Amino acid sequence: MNNYAIILASGSGERAGLKIPKQFAIIAGKTILEHTIEKFDKHNLISGIIIVSNPLYIDKVKDILIKNNYEKVLKVLPGGKTRQQSSYIGISAIKDINSNVLIHDAVRPFIDDEIISNCIEALSNYNAVNVAIESSDTIFEIDNNNLLKSNLNRKLLRRCQTPQCFKLETIKKAHELAIYDNLTENTDDCSLVLKYNLADIYIVNGSVNNIKITYPIDLEIANLIYEKQKKENT
Ligand code: C5P
Repeated sequence: MNNYAIILASGSGERAGLKIPKQFAIIAGKTILEHTIEKFDKHNLISGIIIVSNPLYIDKVKDILIKNNYEKVLKVLPGGKTRQQSSYIGISAIKDINSNVLIHDAVRPFIDDEIISNCIEALSNYNAVNVAIESSDTIFEIDNNNLLKSNLNRKLLRRCQTPQCFKLETIKKAHELAIYDNLTENTDDCSLVLKYNLADIYIVNGSVNNIKITYPIDLEIANLIYEKQKKENT
């Protein structure tokens, strides 16, 4: 069975306060997007990669592809206004209905081989898989008056990361049902599968290094993680 990675890079990066979207910020001489593509391109179980790009930056992504000569990038597509729309654009581009898809945020460049392998392995038993880590913070829900409403049991809480991985048929159906219901703003793919009760969603352990680069401080943390991993690998 083929395993396709969809790399979502259509965000505008407003929260990072940068002039360019954060997927183009540089870590050790390479854009974050390049670091992320490389992880999937080099993984021996990945068959193909689809990049969903911010439409204003398609040429920049194409330049990156020419420069790096990746082996597995199949397509670059213009993304949507929301992450959910971008994700559906990527999903719709895969015609091989009996395949697995791994949907990953471009701004998580520290995804590692082991997590990718564990996700693909889990897809032989489950139709949906989410990567997540334990929460070191206690998390509670508030009401509209900014008053604490309920405490959640930290032992049962997980912080969601990506990739989120699916049998293509399952995630396609989830998105089609969401479109039918006029939903466009979902911030992840598993929550659609959950909403429509389409599959059990198995949790694969993520990593504290698999951060989503969102705010300016995250770029500094990303540089530290990069340096630490480089030292560990030499
Ligand atoms: O905005 P958020 O933090 O949810 O973004 C997560 C990932 O989704 C990022 O890699 C971003 O580029 C991507 N995204 C997208 N299309 C959008 C919004 C976000 O591909 N319209």
